[in-house]
Amino acid sequence: MGRFIMQTIFALRLFRPDDLEKVMHINKLCLPENYSSLFFMDLYERFPETFVVAEEDGEVVGYVMCRIETPFPGGGLLGIARKGHVISIAVLSSYRRHGVGSALMKKAMQAMIEYDAKECVLEVRASNTAGVSLYRKMGFNVKRTIRGYYADGETASVMAKKLLATPAEI
Ligand SMILES: CC(C)(COP(=O)(O)OP(=O)(O)OC[C@H]1O[C@@H](n2cnc3c(N)ncnc32)[C@H](O)[C@@H]1OP(=O)(O)O)[C@@H](O)C(=O)NCCC(=O)NCCS
Repeated sequence: MGRFIMQTIFALRLFRPDDLEKVMHINKLCLPENYSSLFFMDLYERFPETFVVAEEDGEVVGYVMCRIETPFPGGGLLGIARKGHVISIAVLSSYRRHGVGSALMKKAMQAMIEYDAKECVLEVRASNTAGVSLYRKMGFNVKRTIRGYYADGETASVMAKKLLATPAEI
């Protein structure tokens, strides 16, 4: 029997301040790494184009929030390029495996290119099968690991993907 493909319709749009409560709620439900409202709003104000939400059934069901990291002056000459760093991504459990996470990542990476980032980087728990699988499928590779990175002592895998010249190529 063939795999049943559920037809779902979701829409992506940029985060708006009135999404804050819902996004913080999703963050708390889905991840042990939680942040203050000031932290969310600071990233929104500095990098609005890489803070994206997904809506399904008229509700926010997922988000991705990033930071653009600029090397020190002259860093470019040393081969240290501007990077887009995925700080947090989550999709409500009942909306997973519909392509929402991949679509959020793709939209954020397209915006990173507009911010002139050359690489997308992120940390993921080594035990996070869903996260690691999603990133691998999108072309990320593990660059290194950081022992004790998370508050509970778990190791982080640092994963990265080069960003090509135009957003259409993501
Ligand atoms: C990681 C997460 C954002 C993925 O969101 P999603 O909307 O389910 O992702 P997608 O539907 O786009 O999945 C794309 C691919 O990733 C892989 N993948 C996703 N979830 C997976 C799982 N539970 N097990 C194995 N592979 C998985 C699959 O290859 C999948 O493609 P497929 O469905 O065609 O097989 C979601 O699982 C989540 O919110 N997890 C909790 C928060 C979290 O861990 N965030 C990442 C922290 S670094």
